[in-house]
Amino acid sequence: MIMSDRIEKVEMSKTMIVATRAMDLIKQGVELIDLTVGEPDFPTPDNVKAAAIKAINNNKTKYTFNEGYYELREAIIAKLKRDNNLEYTVKEILVSGGAKNSIHNALQALVSVGDEVIIPSPYWVSYPQMVKLADGIPVIVETKQEDNFKITPEILRNSITGKTKVLIICNPSNPTGSAYTKEELEALSKVIIEKDIYVISDEIYEKLIYDNFDFVSLASLNNEIKKRTVTINGVSKAFAMTGWRIGYAVGEESIIQNMKKVQSHGTSCACTISQMASVEALNGPQDTVEKMKVEYERRRNYLQKEIDAIEGINCNKPEGAFYLLPNISSYFGKSFNGKTVNNSDDFALYLLEEARVSTVPGTAFGAEGFIRLSYSNSMENLEKAVAAIKEALSKLK
Ligand SMILES: Cc1ncc(COP(=O)(O)O)c(C=O)c1O
Repeated sequence: MIMSDRIEKVEMSKTMIVATRAMDLIKQGVELIDLTVGEPDFPTPDNVKAAAIKAINNNKTKYTFNEGYYELREAIIAKLKRDNNLEYTVKEILVSGGAKNSIHNALQALVSVGDEVIIPSPYWVSYPQMVKLADGIPVIVETKQEDNFKITPEILRNSITGKTKVLIICNPSNPTGSAYTKEELEALSKVIIEKDIYVISDEIYEKLIYDNFDFVSLASLNNEIKKRTVTINGVSKAFAMTGWRIGYAVGEESIIQNMKKVQSHGTSCACTISQMASVEALNGPQDTVEKMKVEYERRRNYLQKEIDAIEGINCNKPEGAFYLLPNISSYFGKSFNGKTVNNSDDFALYLLEEARVSTVPGTAFGAEGFIRLSYSNSMENLEKAVAAIKEALSKLK
């Protein structure tokens, strides 16, 4: 049977070789320290769980409006005003089954066949594939480690063609952890407005930001950029609610109404019980978010310092999220026990075999020469991982 041209272009995860080997080792009873984790290692806060139980007991268990409960959209409006100085109405919000689903809906609504979508690399794995699912062309634009992996106005300007429709910005970024300052966003917004393109601003890691960094939501800069921006956020990362599947998109009414069409024929609405839990997450006490953030910051400080200090590794100190993206390319060409490390896939496999630590090779993010380490793991495990990585790398000659 022949599949659609569209789906033929979409690739499965590039991390399969390393992930499959990790699964084999686990099956054999080998203990691994998992630094590939893309979700909080904390439980969902108790007040949120209680709200979900209450929703079930109150029979809030049927379909909601396609765009989400009014109460949840009101909670999102209040959050955007409080945290981001953004004013929206209920018609400019679409609640979906996770931020990933929100991005998919946005791309389906904005992108026509052959439209170009600019994706700065290193990028989150799903962006290029979601663009292909929308029949668009992902245009991968490399950023530099010395620019903290952020796209500059010059690079953006040079990447825009007559076919460019959308720019995707991840702020703070998965996999780099970098966040944009207000000045950097202002400089980018000038190019975006001048060239009249749309932006999808993925702000799912907004709450995980350190050193009192002043997070600015792109759409809050001015009305012209607001008109062109679809802001993506959700409860997954901030409230440790990845399995509840609630994300949201906010933007101009015309864009949101078209995104609603995609959702109405795809999933109808996001899970009712999770929507009620999300109202509590957004409106209830925020102290657990703060506690998690303090712990992530402590782990980032530890892991970045230790990894950067390893001979031959160079690791930026990111402002947010829970990832590090160390440059490990100086190990290419080195060998141990007849095995040579020639690329970041080999490097990740080597760490798996010799240090029993699993990581994600940079190829998954369009970042050959790097690996991604997640510090969404206990301090105890991070300490063990550092010792094992140091030991393993000292053998590579
Ligand atoms: C950059 C980025 N955007 C979106 C998502 C998806 O979030 P959700 O779980 O709400 O779909 C993730 C999850 O890993 C992510 O890293």
